[in-house]
Amino acid sequence: MHRLLITGAGGNVGKKLRDRLAGFADILRLSDIVDLGEAGEGEEIVLCDLADLDAVIDLVDGVDGIIHLGGASVENTFEYILNANIRGTYNIFEAARKTGKPRILFASSIHAVGFHPREKRLDDDTPFRPDCLYGVSKCFGESLASYYYDKFDIESAVVRIGSCEFEPVDRRMLATWLSPEDFVQMIKDIFNAPRLANTMLYGASANKEQWWDNSHAAFIGWTPQDSSEQFRKKLEASTPKPTWNDPNVVLQGGRFATAGHFEDEN
Ligand SMILES: NC(=O)c1ccc[n+]([C@@H]2O[C@H](COP(=O)([O-])OP(=O)(O)OC[C@H]3O[C@@H](n4cnc5c(N)ncnc54)[C@H](O)[C@@H]3O)[C@@H](O)[C@H]2O)c1
Repeated sequence: MHRLLITGAGGNVGKKLRDRLAGFADILRLSDIVDLGEAGEGEEIVLCDLADLDAVIDLVDGVDGIIHLGGASVENTFEYILNANIRGTYNIFEAARKTGKPRILFASSIHAVGFHPREKRLDDDTPFRPDCLYGVSKCFGESLASYYYDKFDIESAVVRIGSCEFEPVDRRMLATWLSPEDFVQMIKDIFNAPRLANTMLYGASANKEQWWDNSHAAFIGWTPQDSSEQFRKKLEASTPKPTWNDPNVVLQGGRFATAGHFEDEN
């Protein structure tokens, strides 16, 4: 690949990808609204507000692939989510349509389906069940990906990321953890796949507790290698054991599902 765009490159996940994807494309075009420092070798930096369509068209022009991470990554006001996630993700897909139709990886979230209970194994037939407005915005982004593939042939992977952290920080993450290395391999498999169509993948490592089924996406060939088990003892020693009927345990979205409505509480 010649030029790969990463939006939200200054965020938690984007910073992990910056070094790890060096060399995967000739040029990484890194974008955010926050300062990204100096461009290194094989990098270019374009600061851009995702809510500005004209700016996003310039941002996307000339790229061969997009990893779309930018926007709100937790619950916020509707106004914030409207600009960062709803307008922002529409602008990315619309800019792709108006330029070279690059393949897109859309960072969705498990919070698009967070009201499903833990004991239900989720797959690509699972209906949306968002657990907050942030989750609703991810359902919108997933629908955009479907629409732009069916109507305009823009291939995309929608990745319902669990928790992409260096290590799990609570017991729920023993199931939802996605190691940065496994995510990087998933990204490579997504952009290297001869055909992608519009495919949804759950983003979790090869953890012992498995909530999600990616067998529909086996043709991409992604096989996670890491497991959260190495952190279990430490986490169980440092966190209280929850009860089986604690709503944070019952629902896949955990605390996102049990939190009140953001506008009422802030
Ligand atoms: N971190 C996870 O485990 C996780 C889990 C599920 C989904 N995701 C998704 O992955 C993506 C990255 O997550 P993260 O943890 O790095 O989030 P983050 O909040 O750390 O980073 C998001 C970045 O987007 C930028 N941004 C916000 N609004 C913008 C706008 N209007 N224009 C341009 N840039 C804007 C922010 O400045 C920030 O650097 C998000 O879309 C998030 O919803 C992450």
